[in-house]
Amino acid sequence: MSKQLLSDVDDATRRLIDQARQARDNAHAPYSGFRVGAAVRCANGNVFLGCNVEISSYGLTMCAERVALFAARAAGARVFEALAVVGPGSDETPTPPCGACRQVIWDLAPEAAVVLATPGGSVETWTARDLLPAPFGPEQLARHGGKTP
Ligand code: THU
Repeated sequence: MSKQLLSDVDDATRRLIDQARQARDNAHAPYSGFRVGAAVRCANGNVFLGCNVEISSYGLTMCAERVALFAARAAGARVFEALAVVGPGSDETPTPPCGACRQVIWDLAPEAAVVLATPGGSVETWTARDLLPAPFGPEQLARHGGKTP
């Protein structure tokens, strides 16, 4: 994991963080008040956005990261370069993806740089592997007779 300030990241990453920040404006978080935005950049440069969407039956809530990744996958994207996530972070601690999102990132975007940013401009860049050490994934299924994606 590497830590930077927003002013030090490359232009493409800064743009992606900005798009995640804009996506955060659409967060639907009436129960937790915890608003999260995400933006994923595909190999062809297309960007897909996500925000968390909370549901009155709380367990149906969906995180920003998965909204963005599923939207991208559903639109045909297969290779992802970077996923930016912007959460509350008033103490300049970026929001770490939940366990479910780490699994989805590992399955769909294992090569993506995962860029966690606060609205104030603190940035952490993670690999999918560092977020989910010793992962379960397509490899295990393939090893036991399952189909590869
Ligand atoms: N949440 C996300 O959208 N992404 C994360 O990485 C962590 C948690 C959302 C889910 C829920 O709406 C709220 O934050 C509080 O858990």
